[in-house]
Amino acid sequence: MPTHKIIVAIDGLSSCGKSTLARELAAQLGYNYIDSGAMYRAITLYFLRNNVDLSDPAEVINAIANINLSFVFNERRNASDIYLNDENAEPYIRDMLVSEKVSEVAALREVRSFAVAQQKRMGRRKGIVMDGRDIGTTVFPDAELKLYMTADPEIRVMRRFQELYAVNHEISLDEVRNNLELRDYIDSTREESPLHRAADAILIDNSNLTREEQLKQVLALVNERIQTTDKQH
Ligand code: DC
Repeated sequence: MPTHKIIVAIDGLSSCGKSTLARELAAQLGYNYIDSGAMYRAITLYFLRNNVDLSDPAEVINAIANINLSFVFNERRNASDIYLNDENAEPYIRDMLVSEKVSEVAALREVRSFAVAQQKRMGRRKGIVMDGRDIGTTVFPDAELKLYMTADPEIRVMRRFQELYAVNHEISLDEVRNNLELRDYIDSTREESPLHRAADAILIDNSNLTREEQLKQVLALVNERIQTTDKQH
């Protein structure tokens, strides 16, 4: 019997472990992993470098017209690097400067329609795991499997702090906590496709799960969905 490829949509607040899970899942399944947040981060990097005035829609539209985003697989990371107009933007997009601005940029209608159109195209052939904030609700409302991830806020702060501290010893816990709280707030209350759990998304709270336990649980869900999809065809 043929095995059909499916789309796995993973949403949730910042630092819930979405990308870790998505990357491992894609590797196990031989699917593509797309970090949609990296796209908003790369757009933000371009806006910062070019002093784009976010309050001027014409300026924003012009800037977007000059942006080309692509993903190139990096074997060392076992994930794709995002390219901003032929430059590997991966080393810059997690900077605090970008993190501080990205929610504001991602709330702009023009930015979202640009990113979402590209994300939809990337899913046309299925076999994709994509994580973000609106993947199960807006980008792939028909995804065969939708997950909504949460974790205890302090655990999320500690995880993000450890990640950032590894590359920048200047970073403080308060800085990380403030940034996460602010992004959570903007991402969940913006007008354009705010973060919310799709009615058919499965809730995964990974506060007390190891990476292995989480992956095992989700792989079981994926296999169940693949079997259902196979039966339907
Ligand atoms: O997942 P992340 O923290 O790298 O995402 C960066 C920002 O991008 C996040 O604060 C909200 C925004 N984002 C979004 O609005 N929609 C997505 N699908 C993914 C990210």
